Amino acid sequence: IIIYPCMNVLFVCLGNICRSPLGEGILKNICDHTGLDWNIDSAGTGGWHAGESPDHRSIKVAAKHGIDIHQQRARQFKQDDFDKFDHIIAMDKSNFKDLTSLTSDPNHLAKISLMMDFDTASTFRDVPDPYYDNRFDLVFELVTNACNGFVQKFAEVPISLLY
Ligand code: 4NP
Repeated sequence: IIIYPCMNVLFVCLGNICRSPLGEGILKNICDHTGLDWNIDSAGTGGWHAGESPDHRSIKVAAKHGIDIHQQRARQFKQDDFDKFDHIIAMDKSNFKDLTSLTSDPNHLAKISLMMDFDTASTFRDVPDPYYDNRFDLVFELVTNACNGFVQKFAEVPISLLY
């Protein structure tokens, strides 16, 4: 057997109610199916929705794929997340810029990445904000593919265990 080191992964979007809760739910689901014991969380650069459940449309698209995210609660990104997490994954370039503006520590900066960089085949550079245009199916697909790419890159689990 191969034992992989524990990883601490944080997904970050603007409100932590649409995109990053899907990242958290989808990567947790992949970890459940592949036996990876990772610590996965999500946060928003903004705090307007702190304490709220995910957007009902994110809950619905996740449920359609057998993933339950309704118990998640939104929270704002905080400074000590830079120390607690190994990978801080921004859903779009704006989130990435906001995160990099919160630290000047090179160790912190090195942890920040852009979600779609984990799907090298995709033409999307950003996971688009679906709040106003309702593209939750697209977001689910993009986040799933990028999560699979992330796991392939860092855990090297057999492709047959992904979905
Ligand atoms: P998220 O989507 O960043 O994917 O959670 C948004 C949710 C709420 C708002 C913007 C984006 N908002 O402006 O309230």
